Amino acid sequence: MNAKVLNGREHWASRLGFILAAAGSAIGLGNIWKFPYITGENGGGLFVLFYLLCVLLVGLPIMLAEFVIGRSTQSSPVAAFSELAGEQSAWKLVGWFGVISGFIILSYYSVVAGWSLNYLLMSIVDATAGKSPQEISGIFDKLYTSGSLNIFWHFLFMAITVGIVLSGVKEGIERWCRTLMPLLFLILAFLLVYGVFSPNSGFIKAAKFVFAPKIETFTSAGALEALGHAFFTLSLGMGAMLTYGSYLPKNEDVVKSAFIITFLDTMVALLACMVIFPILFGHGMEPQQGPGLVFKAMPIIFSNIPGGMILAILFFALLTFAALSSAISLQEVVSSNFMDRKGWTRKKATLITGTAIFIIGIPSALAGSGSLLAQWKDIFGKNFFDTMDYLAPNWLLPMGGFLMAVYVGWIMPRKKLEDEFKSGSKWAALYPLWLFSIKFIAPLAVLLVLLYKTGIINL
Ligand code: PHE
Repeated sequence: MNAKVLNGREHWASRLGFILAAAGSAIGLGNIWKFPYITGENGGGLFVLFYLLCVLLVGLPIMLAEFVIGRSTQSSPVAAFSELAGEQSAWKLVGWFGVISGFIILSYYSVVAGWSLNYLLMSIVDATAGKSPQEISGIFDKLYTSGSLNIFWHFLFMAITVGIVLSGVKEGIERWCRTLMPLLFLILAFLLVYGVFSPNSGFIKAAKFVFAPKIETFTSAGALEALGHAFFTLSLGMGAMLTYGSYLPKNEDVVKSAFIITFLDTMVALLACMVIFPILFGHGMEPQQGPGLVFKAMPIIFSNIPGGMILAILFFALLTFAALSSAISLQEVVSSNFMDRKGWTRKKATLITGTAIFIIGIPSALAGSGSLLAQWKDIFGKNFFDTMDYLAPNWLLPMGGFLMAVYVGWIMPRKKLEDEFKSGSKWAALYPLWLFSIKFIAPLAVLLVLLYKTGIINL
């Protein structure tokens, strides 16, 4: 792959670097924190199967659409739509929608990432030693309700994210992902092997729970959650993949890359379940524990097994690395927007927007402490943090993804689309199939889900 700077824009130094950065964006808290607990809540089995279908039929085609737009325009979302559809066109709003989603998602994502930093430090100093299960699970409640601790970790995590993005595409994002991602795969493999061979492992029970389809536990609400999560976990619908695609030269095989990235993301989500559930079942715990699954149940178990401290350090390092490589992609969407549109330097764009994101995240960091914004919950039924975590995957990302699919499938000049899809690809023969899914399957599936959510249709 050629690493020279095209149109003055920075590019990935290598194909592997790009794949690891994009996989790093996709693989995040969504895979290790969220997927296991929503799988637990939805009873595994059919939910997982439905999720896999969403990834393949809706997620993969939309990821390709983002790569195509990004690479063809060599621009971040707003600039890309203004170049393709015209400066006056309303399609530019799709780009702005993405930038706003970037602000919103990173603002609360960083709070959860802060919890994993907190637990990483706790594991290193062995803070759970000699504590009872109640005391250990109480640690999370204390953290969750402490405004100052949450703000501290949120600040630290944002500072690290901003620091990496400040160093640029090659020297910052790509370099870090080249280190973090192999480490992440290694830790995951180690924990998996531990799960299979440890003395009281619930591995078989876990495999059955995750993979055997059971009709009883599958609900239409679960189906909706599965589609929303497919967007979230693949980083789709807000221009993260579009922006990473804009740093690609024309000879990169985007079709092949999209398959590899989707495959890696899916494997990590399934393997995270196969790391967490065997340990859980092996200790007689149940998987329906909600968002506290990773932060409450796992530390109790780690404190119970010989060598558990090492396992805990590895597990929370895994979570932190995954969160960091996703957070930098969210920050990059926002930074690159202000660089492309306003001509700001990377330094100015990243420092200003990073600070803004930190500030927007403060209400999320304080959500559990119940002090500030206490009335929020009375008005909206969810606290500020939960509102953000509901809004982004359930509404913002599917809507953004829907509009991008419609643009690419119905509006973008067909010749340009075809050339861009096929450029550098050995998989060009898949073009008609992709076109069909991006015109019909992906937008219709998303539309159905959105209409269902608004209550306009009832299944
Ligand atoms: N894909 C990331 C995860 O699974 C989250 C993310 C969403 C990152 C959207 C970028 C854009 O955790």
